[in-house]
Amino acid sequence: MLDIKDVTVKFGGLAAVKEMNITVEKGKIHSLIGPNGAGKTTLFNVITRVIQPVSGRVSFKGDELLGLRAEDIIFRGVARTFQNLQLFQGSNIYDNIYSGWVHNYTKGMLSLAAGKHLAFGKDARDKIHAVAELMQISGMLKFYPAQLSYGVLKRVEIARALISDPQLLLLDEPAAGLNMDETSELNDILVKLNRDGKTILLVEHDMNLVMKISDRITVMNFGAKIAEGNPVEIANNREVIKVYLGDDEDAAS
Ligand SMILES: Nc1ncnc2c1ncn2[C@@H]1O[C@H](COP(=O)(O)OP(=O)(O)OP(=O)(O)O)[C@@H](O)[C@H]1O
Ligand SMILES: [Mg+2]
Repeated sequence: MLDIKDVTVKFGGLAAVKEMNITVEKGKIHSLIGPNGAGKTTLFNVITRVIQPVSGRVSFKGDELLGLRAEDIIFRGVARTFQNLQLFQGSNIYDNIYSGWVHNYTKGMLSLAAGKHLAFGKDARDKIHAVAELMQISGMLKFYPAQLSYGVLKRVEIARALISDPQLLLLDEPAAGLNMDETSELNDILVKLNRDGKTILLVEHDMNLVMKISDRITVMNFGAKIAEGNPVEIANNREVIKVYLGDDEDAAS
């Protein structure tokens, strides 16, 4: 479904992503893991056209994405969440979720940025309620971001991404900052979304969650792919263990 081929990104002299290749298959939960600074978020930014790579190709369902503008990506069926929450603080949860709606994308964003209230049709209201229910935040719609816990806000972000009915959902550390109960709820929500047909590319540091829900895992370190496989293969991969546990694993065993 998503094909990333030989993608290289440079920031000045630093190659943040080096000749990366990933194929995400339709219907799967594919996780992208690796230490801080490995290049995971940078790769999301390439897919969503925030960053232009120096070389490589990205195609989604056979269409080249790199020729498109950032705002066109969502129309192709790809939506994302951000590592750092990016919600409108001056708008309630209802309006924040609506701001992701593709059919009104630009207009919604501009109105919210200008501090205006949004006018909703019935179709919009139905959609907001449907994704809120899916993310179990139906009781929170009237609140403003500052009134809610971090765990709830992370779900608001996913709801905002879901409202455009994406086929591919890119999630950048959805479990970061969540407690164990919230992470377990997130686990169930992601599995349900996947069962309902969403393909998910997940960047996440919570290995417990990654190992439980992933069909496939790609591991990056210093911009390059160091391993790929199913959870069992990745958990037993010497290179991966070395990166996560340090070089002294032989001494410890
Ligand atoms: N806009 C930018 N300008 C310059 N350097 C950047 C920029 N964005 C990222 N980098 C650098 O590129 C490298 C990869 O960063 P990236 O944010 O993709 O890592 P990550 O794998 O998402 O890490 P983390 O797990 O900490 O979120 C890092 O060295 C980072 O400092
Ligand atoms: Mg990151």
